[in-house]
Parts: sequence; C-alpha cells; structure tokens
Amino acid sequence: MKVLVVGSGAREHALAWAAARSPVVSSVVLAPGNGGTAPNVAVDPMNGAAVVAAAREARADLVIVGPDDPLAAGVVDALQASGIRAFGPTAAAAQIEASKVWSKDFMRRYGIPTAPHESFDDLRAAHAFIDRQAGPLVVKADGLTRGKGVIVCDTSDEAHQALDQVMEQRAFGAGGARVVIEQRLSGEEASVFALCDGETALPFEAGRDHKRIFDGDRGPNTGGMGAYSPTRLVPPDVLDDVMERIVRPTIRGLAAEGRPFTGFLYAGLMFTADGPQVIEFNARMGDPEAQVILPRLESDLVEAIQAAVDGKLAGVRLRWSQRHACGVCLASAGYPETVRDGVPIVGLDRLPPGALVFHAGSERRGDRVFSKGGRVLTVVGQADSLVEARAGAYRLAEQISFEGAHYRKDIGARELALAAA
Ligand code: AMP
Ligand code: GLY
Repeated sequence: MKVLVVGSGAREHALAWAAARSPVVSSVVLAPGNGGTAPNVAVDPMNGAAVVAAAREARADLVIVGPDDPLAAGVVDALQASGIRAFGPTAAAAQIEASKVWSKDFMRRYGIPTAPHESFDDLRAAHAFIDRQAGPLVVKADGLTRGKGVIVCDTSDEAHQALDQVMEQRAFGAGGARVVIEQRLSGEEASVFALCDGETALPFEAGRDHKRIFDGDRGPNTGGMGAYSPTRLVPPDVLDDVMERIVRPTIRGLAAEGRPFTGFLYAGLMFTADGPQVIEFNARMGDPEAQVILPRLESDLVEAIQAAVDGKLAGVRLRWSQRHACGVCLASAGYPETVRDGVPIVGLDRLPPGALVFHAGSERRGDRVFSKGGRVLTVVGQADSLVEARAGAYRLAEQISFEGAHYRKDIGARELALAAA
C-alpha cells in the first residue's frame, strides 16, 4: 500500500521512516516533506483541497497527518469527506489541543486531574482575577502558538504583565483573544502518548522532552530541543494509572460529546505531590518525542494505524524494544528567534550506516542540503542504556556541522541524575 505523510518536521520524517519499515507498505510520499525525505510533493499542508489532490495524485491508500495546525484546520475532515482514508483527529476532536480554554473546561467537566483554572475573554476581569489569587500563576493564550504562548510566572506583577502581552499586545497572535489563567504546579514533566480509535486507547511508550533552549532548562521555550525514552518517571504501573485516570476518561468524554478521537493523544503531564496532572493535551505525536519513541516500536506502525482508523484497536498489543533512545535537536543560529536559511549542512554523507538522522528545517538542492528553519535535524542514538544512547546521539551531532549550529549538551542528564538519586 501507498502512504502519504502530511507535514515537514522531524516527527513526520520519523513517521515516514517507521511507515516505510512496514512490510505492507510499498511507498511513502511526504507532503511537503523536507531535505531528508523523498519523494516529496510540494503542498501547503494547511490547504485541505491541495492535500486531497496530492493524496489522489499519489494514489495514497492511507494519509497520516502529523502536525497540529492542519489537524485543527480540518485536513482530516477534508480527506474523509473525499473518501480518502486518513489518520488523525477531526477538527472537532483536535479542539483538545487547539483551544486551551475548551480543553481546560473539558478536563473540569470530566474530573481529569489538572491545575485549577479560569478562562477570560475580558482583559479587566482577568486582571481582577489575578489580584485575587495568592499563589504563583501560569498565563496561557487560548490558541495554537507553537509552544510559545505559555508564560510561567513567579509573582503577581509578572502575571499582570504576561496577561497584557497575551491579550493586549497579542504577542502570540490571534490565539491571545482569550486566556487561561491557572495555578502553577511543580514537579517533573513527562509526555504520555496513546494511539486511539475513537473508543479504545492503546498506550505508547512515554518520553521526556527538553523545551528550553539552553542547558539546565534555562532560556526561552522552544518546540523541543531533545528527548529520550523510556523514562523512570513513567514505569508500567504509573502508565496504567495515567491511562485509567487521564487518557481513557478523556477518550470517553470526547466520544460522549460527539467528537470521537482517532489519532495520537499526547498528554503532557507534571508529576506533582498530588500525582500526575495534565499540563496540556495535544492531538498528535510529540516532536521531538516521536523521533525517540517510534524507533523503539517493534510492531508494525501502519498495521496499528490501520486498526485505529477502522475502530479495531481493542485487543491489539504493541511490542516495544527495551532499548533506550536519545534524540538531540540541532538548531540554527538565533533559534528560537529569527534564523537565517540556506546555510549548507556538511557531514550528512559521512555518517555510519544506519545512523538515525531525522530532518526538519532542511532543504535539498541537488546533492547538497541546506538549512531552512529553526530546528534543522534530530540525531538519535539507541543503546541498551541511556548513557550509551546519549553518547551515540552526541557522536552523530559532532559529525554534522553548519554555521551557527547549536544544540543542548544535557539531553537526558536529569534522568541520569534521577537514577543516581
Ligand atoms: P504547554 O505549552 O502548555 O505545554 O506549556 C509549556 C510549559 O509551561 C510546560 O512544559 C510547563 O513546563 C510549563 N507549564 C504549563 N502549565 C504549567 C502549570 N500549570 N504549572 C507549571 N508549569 C506549567
Ligand atoms: N514536544 C512538544 C510538542 O510536541 O509539543
């Protein structure tokens, strides 16, 4: 069968790579893909009609939609309306990520553990609410903001400023018309994923992302600078508990409200003194988590996705490698602010056979590859221990260079510290 993967990130490269390993798959096309993927078709992933046309042209038997924006824009709905098999939530189901106000209110309706919150579309009422709160707060823009519209505040003054930034100055775009203000929680964070068919949720292996730009979790938030899987924060009994108390009630609630969720449900969790709490839900795989979790999947990804699309996940079991994977993102100079594109990337052709390098912001011209975006590549090491997997990832990172390239040197370090403690 032929598969089309919509998106251009390292997550989509990893999805395409995993799909291509399936014995039932004869070809995988990316729309629009990047400098590390082939074949690519030049398509705007936000344009449902264009994605439908590309799927027809490629004679795709299955379309996998990777990123949040096209999901929220209803690209899966457009494909399904045209009779094309598509994997990913509908726009209605993707609301769980696309609107933080909707998502938090949903969690409250179903008793999903999450920080207490209020939502506002009125700036003055929101300021007045902040004045009435005692503890530290987090201010979140309602809409999709590429992980940037969340401001974690220490003081009430900071919360007032954050609110002005989000709602008045619209520093994170139109998504700032409404805000969620919630209690600040503390604890370690991990990402839990489930493959869902509208009714049944099948757990994936968990992982941890590193969102801040600099070592030691300092500096501004990014799309994610590295990840690893597994994590001792989510052993099997904790994963079972998260599935029972968080993921399954969410899937049941979405179905009950007429928004059955088919796709990857991503629960961003904080492990607090009161147990795991949901920081956010996403309606897709994580990036960079996909790059470290998919290589650990021993089962056939496409077979599992087909079962999800058919509503037949009940009874399916996934096999996972017990090995560790660690992924390091190589970013352009200036990221997460403005970056310069077109910087030549060298070393890609001299990597050892089987090296796992997932491209994101890259572009191929002839036999050369150039940067095109902030996060350029994710290099992944796999080994029997995290120590070795990390070393493998950093060996790959050292063999690739482009002007201004930078990456965090401490991916996985906290996990090793946890293990030592
Ligand atoms: P989000 O985009 O919602 O995942 O938020 C980005 C980051 O902000 C999270 O990974 C957390 O580190 C932090 N964050 C979000 N909400 C809270 C909260 N209620 N308490 C503490 N930190 C938070
Ligand atoms: N790893 C963060 C995200 O995918 O949103």
